[in-house]
Formats: sequence, C-alpha cells, structure tokens
Amino acid sequence: EEAKKIVIKDDPSLPEAHKIQLAEKIQLDPTPRVQVIGRVMRQAKQKNMLFVRLRDGTGYMQCLLAGDLANTYHAQTLTLESSILIKGQLKAVPSDHDAPMDRELHADYFEIIGKAPGGEDAITNKVQMNGDAQTLLDMRHLALRNEAISSVLYVRQAVEHAFATKYWELDFVKVSPPALVQTQVEGGSTLFEFDYYNEKAYLTQSSQLYLETAIPSFGNVYCIEKSFRAEKSLTRRHLSEYTHIEGELDFITFDDLLTHLEDLMCGVLSIVLAHPRTASMIKKLNPDFTMPERPFKRMKYSDAIQWLNEHDIKNEDDQPHVFGDDIAEAAERKMTDIINKPIFLTHFPTEIKAFYMQKDPQDPRVTESVDCLMPGVGEIIGGSMRMDNYEELMEAYTRNGIPSEPYYWYTDLRRYGTSPHGGYGLGLERFLAWLCKQHTVRDTCLFPRYMGRCKP
Ligand code: 4AD
Repeated sequence: EEAKKIVIKDDPSLPEAHKIQLAEKIQLDPTPRVQVIGRVMRQAKQKNMLFVRLRDGTGYMQCLLAGDLANTYHAQTLTLESSILIKGQLKAVPSDHDAPMDRELHADYFEIIGKAPGGEDAITNKVQMNGDAQTLLDMRHLALRNEAISSVLYVRQAVEHAFATKYWELDFVKVSPPALVQTQVEGGSTLFEFDYYNEKAYLTQSSQLYLETAIPSFGNVYCIEKSFRAEKSLTRRHLSEYTHIEGELDFITFDDLLTHLEDLMCGVLSIVLAHPRTASMIKKLNPDFTMPERPFKRMKYSDAIQWLNEHDIKNEDDQPHVFGDDIAEAAERKMTDIINKPIFLTHFPTEIKAFYMQKDPQDPRVTESVDCLMPGVGEIIGGSMRMDNYEELMEAYTRNGIPSEPYYWYTDLRRYGTSPHGGYGLGLERFLAWLCKQHTVRDTCLFPRYMGRCKP
C-alpha cells in the first residue's frame, strides 16, 4: 500500500536522456544520462535497492534502482521478462563487479512497458531448462529467451551471412529456386506430396536440379533455401524442414569439387571466427573447437567398408558390412567419432545413390559422389558430379523407375550444350550442430519440424 503511493516522475530539470542500445559503447566521462529499454533477465532485491539485469538482443546491462525508486509498487512487484524503460546515469564500475561492459545504470526514472506474470505463471515455471525435451519444445517460443538457446541461433545467422560473403568472394551467383515442384530429387520415400490445383506436386527435397538449369547463364551458382523431407524416423539429425545450402559448379572435375568444399567450409569458419561476438559464443558452446586441417581426409566408400569391418562395427542387420550396404547413421557416426576429423567419404556404389550421379570412369560400379562427415554429427554434406550424357541419363530414369516426362527441362540441359558439372547440398542445421556442439539439429533451428511436430 505504501509502495503504491510512491510515484516517480521523469524529472524535466535533468539533462535529456540519450537513447542507447544495451551493448552500445559510449563515453562514460563525463557521466552521460541515457535511456534504455529491455527485458528483465535477472533481478536481485536488497533493502532499498533493486539490481536488474536487462537484455535487448545486442547485449546486457546492469541497472540499479535505489531509494524511492526501489520502493515503488512496480519495482517491488517486478517480474522476470517484463519489458521496461529506464533512464539514468551510466557509470563505470570496477571490473571485479559482475556487470556487462564494466558499467552500471543508476536509474532516476523507469516505467514498465509490458508486465510479465509472476507466481504460478512466471516464466520460470513455464520453461524449465532441465525439464522434459518435448515440453521445452512446446514452450520454445519462451525458451528462446534463454541465452544458451539463443546463442546457437545467433551463430546460425552469422554462418548464413558468412556463406553469402564467401560465395560473393568466389563470384558465385545466388538464385532462388521454387519450393513447390513436380519432380523428386532424392527418392520417393521422403516426398511431401500435396494437391496443386488438381495436379500432384511436392515440397522440394533439394534445389539441385534447378541450380543445374542456372549454370549455363550464370556459371557457378548457389542458393540458401528450405528443403523438405517426410522422414519417417526420429533421429537427432533429421528434420522435415531444413535449410539447405546448395552450390553447383560448371566445367569442373570431381577433385575440383572436393577442393572447393574445403575452401568453402574453411572460408566460412574464418569469417565467422573473425567476428568477436560470434567467436565468443562458439567458444562458450564448443570450447574445444579448432579449425579443421586441410586437406580433409579422403576415404573411398570401399575403404570405409573395410575400416568398419576391421573395427568390428556391424551393419543394421548386425552383420559385417559388405560392398553395396548403405552405411547406417550409427555406424557412420562411430567411424567419424573414432577418426575424429572431417572426412570426405567418396565413390559410393551406383545402386545406393541418386539417379543423377556421374559414374566413375575408372570403376563404373561406383559414382563420383561425396559425403562430408563431421565428428559428433556424421554427414553434413552430400554432393556429386552429375551425369552429363543424354543417353545415360535416359537409362538412369528407367533404371530408377522415374518417368522422364516431368524431367523434360532437366534432360534438355544434356541436349543444349552439356558440360561436366557437379555440386552439393549442405544441411545448415547439421553444420551448426557440429560447430556449436549440439546434440541434435532440433536445437539449431528456430522452431524445429520433424515427424509429429509442426508447432509452435
Ligand atoms: O545428401 P542429400 O540428400 O543430397 C541432396 O539433396 C543433393 N541433391 C544436394 C545437392 O547435390 N545439391 O542432402 C544434402 C544434405 C545432407 O548432407 C544433410 O546435411 C542435409 O542435406 N539433410 C538434412 N538435414 C536435416 N534433416 C534432414 N531430413 C536432411 N536430409 C538431408
């Protein structure tokens, strides 16, 4: 009741408060009067004093409400995640104080912008970081406010930006292929089908075929688009909707493709690590991260089969691996974790790979294909040289039971000035799981989509 009577007014005799963001660097001498807004991420009450830590996305600020201010109704009932405006003197504090940027805002005025509930409904009751994973996903719209969760997503945008920067340096042209398509790329079993004005259509599994249409005009191209897969299993690295970074290179050899991939990934990592805020987040999330050594280890599929058998790692039927087996996720990850560095796994058998892959001229049983495997995650990239011969492609459709008619535009690329070309797709969420040491790709996107989850 007493507190309700205390009314704080913005004192017009004080100097005008300069609006700043929480992480903005400004001169503290002479002491400036500033205005900040943010949400309460932490607070500590002492007699006649209220310490409030604010968050605004750019950073954090320690604020002190003292005396009458601390005894107002709104200060006494302040709740976590309320949004608040504060004006006051920004002062340096000794670096042994726990205050971001070694400074503290001594408030002379504040107002609540949006009050968050307390008690039963307090955010700490809704979102328990060590609680059940499904509940946490249901509450992800609030869980995103957690620093560890949001820092992964901050790194994500830095990585996306770094890819765009690196591609720009490499003179790749960005194109934007459609998401609604009538052709499959990676097999019928993971197609999301829907009715498109009474015609059958799909959500795209990969933009690859469309990137191939663009190389005759632009040379090397790339896109950063969503891909969709109706994956019917729950694993820690499969999503139904993911961000696919895909590149396609014209007039190259298979070896050129591998060299490009190393250059691209190391280039992106250098850009990201040169950015202090991103680098410090990565350091926190993955303290042991080191830049991969070039060249990456190259390993043929047939050697991997031998390696797995030598290490007694069985296939899905609990049998020794044989040539022709699809190396399952578990076996692949075991191998990658033991080798513990990036691997280019190459030359997969024709039968287990997509229809469009170029055969190895030295050994037609296998394709000029590559998976890039990373410790902790396994495959993060799939790529290959593309079949560039018209007749061979027609045979490949037949062999894979794919009607050639809907692919007329793809086939035409082999008729109108074909070329040796190749490309790849990198799963952004998997790249981040590796870089930020996350157990699952569900934690590397804003709102994960996978079998059984399409909310929030
Ligand atoms: O190996 P994939 O299926 O290759 C393609 O789609 C090619 N057409 C790409 C190309 O050559 N342009 O997929 C490429 C990558 C995988 O290595 C993985 O990182 C990611 O896409 N990926 C998934 N990520 C999350 N959830 C899923 N369900 C994924 N499926 C593939």
